[in-house]
Amino acid sequence: AQDKRESLYVFNQWASKYFKQTLWETELGQSIGLSYFHERGYRDDIIKKFDLGYSPEAWTSLVDEAAKEGYAKEYLTELGLAVERDDKSLYDRFRGRVIFPIHNLTGRVIGFGGRTLKKDKTVPKYVNSPESEIYHKSNVLYGLHLAKKAILEHDVCFLVEGYADVLSCHQAGVEQVVSSSGTSLTTGQIKLISRYTKQVVILYDGDEAGIKASLRGTDMLLEEGLNVKVLLFPDGNDPDSYIQKYGASEFRAYVEKNQEDFVFYKTNILLRDAKDDPIKRAEVIREVVESIALIPDEIKVSVYIRQCSTLLDIEERVLLSELNKIRLGKA
Ligand code: GTP
Ligand code: MN
Ligand code: MN
Ligand code: MN
Ligand code: MN
Repeated sequence: AQDKRESLYVFNQWASKYFKQTLWETELGQSIGLSYFHERGYRDDIIKKFDLGYSPEAWTSLVDEAAKEGYAKEYLTELGLAVERDDKSLYDRFRGRVIFPIHNLTGRVIGFGGRTLKKDKTVPKYVNSPESEIYHKSNVLYGLHLAKKAILEHDVCFLVEGYADVLSCHQAGVEQVVSSSGTSLTTGQIKLISRYTKQVVILYDGDEAGIKASLRGTDMLLEEGLNVKVLLFPDGNDPDSYIQKYGASEFRAYVEKNQEDFVFYKTNILLRDAKDDPIKRAEVIREVVESIALIPDEIKVSVYIRQCSTLLDIEERVLLSELNKIRLGKA
C-alpha cells in the first residue's frame, strides 16, 4: 500500500511538471495560459512559486503523454487527472484550464485545481481533483506548505476563499495565508491551523456568500478554541481583486486597520439588517451570545460578554442569563 501511495505521488509530480512545461515552453501555453496569468497581474516569480501550469484544450494531451511514458491507466483515473468514457477511453479532466497544483505540508503534489479561461457562465469556473488515497480535501489547506513559516513568525493565519487570493497575498508580501479552496471550512483544516497559531483572521469575499461563510467559519474556529478576527472587503471585492485594484501597500494597510474582533464584526453585520426593529435587535443579541457560548475558555467568555454588553448597551446580567439558557439548551 505504501508503494502504491508513493507511485501516486510520483505520478502527480510528473503531471504537475507536464502542466508547468506546457505553460512555459509551448506556444499555446504561453499565448493562452501565461498571458491569462499576466493579464490577472501575477508576476513570473509568483507563477513559479506556486508551480502553476496549463492544460491544453485538446482532449487527450496528458493522457497521450502518460501513455508515451508507459504509465498505468489506473493512475490517471485514480488521481482524477483523466475521466473514463463508457467505451473505457480516457480524456483529460483539466483540458483547457490553467492549473493550480495542491500540495501537502511537505510540498508534495496531492491534487489539482483547474480554472476555466472561458467567460461562459455555464462551465464550472473551477474543477478540482476528486478525493484519492493521497488527497483528502477536508484535511488540506491550499498554500499551507508555503505559509507555515510566516504563520509561525507572525503568530497569525489569514484565511481566504480561493487560490487567486492566496497568490495575490504572496505577491503583496503577505505569506501567512491559506485557503480552504472550494470546500467550506472543516474541523480537520482548523486543527491543522492550530498546530501553528491560535490566531485566525478571516478574509473572505465581500459578498453575501462570503459574509455567510465568515459567520459559519467564525463559529467553527471559536469552537476549536481559536481567536477570531474578521475583515470585510468593500464593494464585493475579494483579497485578490482588492490587491490587483489598489496595490500591495494599500492592501496591507486596509488589513491592518479594518480587522475586527468577531464580536464587533458579527454584531455590526447583524445590526445592519436589524435597523431599529426591537425584536430583530433582540435576535441579534441572542445570535452573538450563541457564538460566545461556543468558546471553551471561561475567561475569554466573560471578557466577550462584557464587550458585548458595552457594544449593545445591554446589562451583563441579561447576557449571562441568555448564555446559560443557550448552554442548557445544548446540554
Ligand atoms: P477567481 O475568479 O479566479 O478570482 O476565483 P475566486 O477564488 O474569486 O472564486 P470564488 O470566490 O467564486 O470561489 C472561491 C473558491 O471556491 C475558488 O478559489 C475555488 O476553489 C472554489 N470554486 C469557485 N467556483 C467553483 C466551481 O465552480 N466549482 C468548484 N468545485 N469550486 C469552485
Ligand atoms: Mn512576513
Ligand atoms: Mn466568492
Ligand atoms: Mn473570490
Ligand atoms: Mn477572485
